[in-house]
Amino acid sequence: MTTSSLLEQRVIARIEREGPLSFAEYMRMVLYDPENGYYTAGLPRIGWSGDYFTSGDLGSFFAHCLGRQLYQMWEELGRPQPFRVWEQGAGRGELEQEVRASLQEERPEFAAALSYRSLDLQRGEDALSGETLQQLRQQEGEPQVILANELVDAFPVHLVEVHQGQLYEIYVDVDKGRLQAIAAAPSTPAVVGYLDRYCPRWRSFPDGWRAEINLAALRWVELQASLLRRGFLLVIDYGDRASQLYHRSRLRGTLLCYYQHRINEQPLMRPGEQDITAHVNFSALIDEGRRHGLRRRLFTTQRAWLERMGIFEELEGLRRTHFAAADQERASDRGQIALLRWYNLRQQVLALTDPAGLGNFKVLIMRR
Ligand SMILES: C[S@@+](CC[C@H](N)C(=O)[O-])C[C@H]1O[C@@H](n2cnc3c(N)ncnc32)[C@H](O)[C@@H]1O
Repeated sequence: MTTSSLLEQRVIARIEREGPLSFAEYMRMVLYDPENGYYTAGLPRIGWSGDYFTSGDLGSFFAHCLGRQLYQMWEELGRPQPFRVWEQGAGRGELEQEVRASLQEERPEFAAALSYRSLDLQRGEDALSGETLQQLRQQEGEPQVILANELVDAFPVHLVEVHQGQLYEIYVDVDKGRLQAIAAAPSTPAVVGYLDRYCPRWRSFPDGWRAEINLAALRWVELQASLLRRGFLLVIDYGDRASQLYHRSRLRGTLLCYYQHRINEQPLMRPGEQDITAHVNFSALIDEGRRHGLRRRLFTTQRAWLERMGIFEELEGLRRTHFAAADQERASDRGQIALLRWYNLRQQVLALTDPAGLGNFKVLIMRR
């Protein structure tokens, strides 16, 4: 039996026992089920052979910029030794390797102080588990930086829909042995309170208007704030301010599923075999951070952040040092090869900074 049908049967059995599941609970099951969940079953998901790729799959520029950002933070905090960085939702830990490699070359003194810890649910390190993280903090010491690239978008979200000025929540139910979405009263007042706060005009929005409510992201920020005594929280993800995200023209919200590099909007299909994500409401992260003692330091696009961290200078520098043949000997084989390699690198930078793609991701830095 496939993962998908095994998990589907489990979901169906649970619904038959307990009644309809909130979409958030369904998402938690299909992404995090200990045996067959999308993130927990241990199959390769990221990269060219998986379901999607992330900034780290596009060469080393992203890691180099992150390394420079961490160096600035280290300096600002007075060069603590060791300097502990926790990356949460780190996947295969490739970003860590790239950051380490580049720093060893560029800034050996900092590389020696850096203690970089990659954490991921796939290794039982749940970013939403206070117990796990507090224990780690006790054993290894407090982190100065907590960072997450494309983690918060994976947290389970509640789905809500407006009908005639009323708010409904989407649940997953079973009909004739198949999963189906139904609308009913919100599962918790927190869902309505959240929407009232971040989208006060929802009552006048058109029928069928949908949005995602990421209550887990609030818990996550609170937990990270409790781990940081003095330091930074750095979040990179797709998403926006609430005013953009919860706009009346965005009729169907931002929930998307990824399966083998194709996007679909059918989260009840292939449970456990496809990723389900929603854009991050950065206004909520900023507010929640503030509530727990973190001040916003920077909120910008990935493009602007990479620019600040010198991505274009790095590219230009490489052109001069490694690809001079592309200019000086263009007619030769050597020149042609240099030119092609150079185009390849330039393409990586263009993809990372593309205003219609990764460049429009958001970067949030908060400080305590
Ligand atoms: C989209 S991937 C991003 C991976 C990596 N940060 C990157 O940029 O390539 C999301 C990662 O978050 C992990 N993840 C999801 N929920 C998590 C949780 N609650 N705690 C820790 N890791 C989690 C998944 O296992 C997955 O590796």
